[in-house]
Formats: sequence, structure tokens, C-alpha cells
Amino acid sequence: MRRTLIPFALLFACHAHAANQPRAPGIETPGYVWNKADPETTKALLHKGDAARGKEAYRVCRGCHKQDGSGLVNGDYPQLAGQLSSVLIKQMADMRAGRRDNSKMHPFVGMDLVLTDDLADIAAFLNGLPPPPQIGKGDGKRLERGKELYKKDCAFCHGKNGEGNAKWFYPKVSQQHYRYLLRQIQEIREQGRRNSNPDMIEAAKDYSDRDLEAVSDYMSRLPEAQE
Ligand code: HEC
Ligand code: HEC
Repeated sequence: MRRTLIPFALLFACHAHAANQPRAPGIETPGYVWNKADPETTKALLHKGDAARGKEAYRVCRGCHKQDGSGLVNGDYPQLAGQLSSVLIKQMADMRAGRRDNSKMHPFVGMDLVLTDDLADIAAFLNGLPPPPQIGKGDGKRLERGKELYKKDCAFCHGKNGEGNAKWFYPKVSQQHYRYLLRQIQEIREQGRRNSNPDMIEAAKDYSDRDLEAVSDYMSRLPEAQE
């Protein structure tokens, strides 16, 4: 009896919370400051992440992001293994506070299931996972164009090999599924990802869909794409 009750209760909680996803000011708000000091992010960054505890706390996430953090090759769920800890913490805290909308995930990363210290523990666990065997890629037809754009407009922040920058919260974009990268950069261009860095929006705002595809395909093949 207990076995059936627990998932049912969780399902019910999810529905109740999806509607309650908070909404904090983001890019659409005049005077928006990217990555403004946030008490929860600051606290989680100061907590020394414990990967063993993180593995436990991550249990509720496995249904979507998978046990090895690899997500889905079709990009519906991002790959998280090896992502920088500071980036993971910022993105989770942004979703919790409502600076990045994610109604599917919000019930699972909400305040009642995950504590602030758990954010650091989960980040330590994910950061230490090896890259998954399979990464979703594009059709490979416009990689030269993708490379040219990436080097010109993106490498400055995301790194020559897509390694990101932990200090500045710039995500690692190598070893990420093509469809997820493409969906994010489209959303960023359209200002739908509300926690975006304004300098990146500026860099991508005049990109055509084809160019976004080319640059995403190139990123999905980093670091191997570098000669
Ligand atoms: C119901 C499915 C689901 C569950 C469960 C879930 N997530 Fe997610 N998660 C998503 C989706 C979908 C996205 C991408 C959202 C988008 O496209 O903007 C995402 C994005 C993320 C990101 C941002 C990745 C990036 O590169 O910016 C992180 C970090 C993350 N999830 C961590 C977690 C953690 C930790 C848990 C458990 C506490 C969790 N997720 C549970 C669906 C889920
Ligand atoms: C000024 C630094 C900067 C530049 C330039 C920049 N980005 Fe970003 N990018 C970021 C930051 C910071 C994030 C994380 C979003 C956030 O929280 O602000 C991000 C997120 C992303 C993501 C989502 C990654 C994820 O894991 O969810 C993609 C895809 C991306 N950038 C692609 C690009 C592309 C393509 C370019 C070049 C056209 C570019 N970026 C230029 C800073 C930058």
C-alpha cells in the first residue's frame, strides 16, 4: 500500500507546485543586472560540495537527467555530467527563484525537496561524472561556418574548446547535446531565457536560424572539433 501511495503523493505535489513556479525579474525588466548577488547562490557556493551526499540528493533527478547525468540525446533533457559546479549551482538557484523558467523541472528542484546545501552537493556529484558515451550532434553540413561564428562571437566566454569558465559562471558547452544547445541559443536570442547574459544576447541577436544551427552543431562536437 505504501508503495503506491508515495509516487501518487509526489505526483500530486508536482501538479500543485507547477502552478506555483515563482517568477522573479529577468532580462525583460528595465535595469536588469545579470548574475546579481543572490543570497542562495552565495550560500551554496560557499558550501563545500560533498559528491556522495549529492548522489543521494540527485535521486529525484534521474527520471529525466538519467543516472549518469547524460540526459536525452534528442536534447529534451540536457547532459549534466562534467558541467562546472558554479554553473550548475547558478542555474538551479535561478530556476528555484524564478529567474529561469522550467515548469517541468521546478517541482523537483523546489525548496521542499532540495536544500540550499544540496545544490552544492549535487553540483559536486555531477561535476565529477565522466562524459557520457553518446552526444547528440547536428547534420555536420556547416561546421566551417559554425567554427567561424563560434571563434568570433562565443569562444571569448565559452572557451576555445567549449570548456566554459567557472569563475564567471560561463557554462561548458562541449559534450552537450546539439538539440539542447540549439533550443537554448534560440531562446537566448529571443530573450526567453530570462537569466541570460546581455552581452551574449547582443552577440546572437542578428543570427539567422541557419547560423544558430551551424554554431550549435560545432559546439556539440567540441573539443574534438578543434585541430
Ligand atoms: C521532469 C524532468 C526533470 C527533472 C525531474 C529534473 N530536470 Fe533538470 N531540466 C529539465 C529540463 C527540461 C531542462 C532544460 C530546460 C530548458 O530547456 O530550458 C533541465 C535543465 C537543468 C539544468 C540546467 C542545465 C544547463 O546546462 O543550464 C540543471 C542544472 C538541471 N536541470 C538539474 C536538475 C537537478 C539537479 C534535478 C533534480 C533535483 C533536475 N534537474 C530534475 C528537466 C528535469
Ligand atoms: C559575455 C559572455 C558570453 C558570450 C559572448 C556568449 N555566451 Fe553563451 N552563455 C553565457 C552565460 C553566462 C550563459 C549562462 C546563462 C546565464 O545564466 O547567464 C551562457 C549560456 C549559453 C548556452 C546555454 C548553455 C547551457 O548549458 O544551458 C548556450 C547554448 C550558449 N551560451 C551559446 C552561446 C553562443 C552560440 C555564443 C556566441 C554566439 C555565446 N553563447 C556567447 C555567456 C556568454
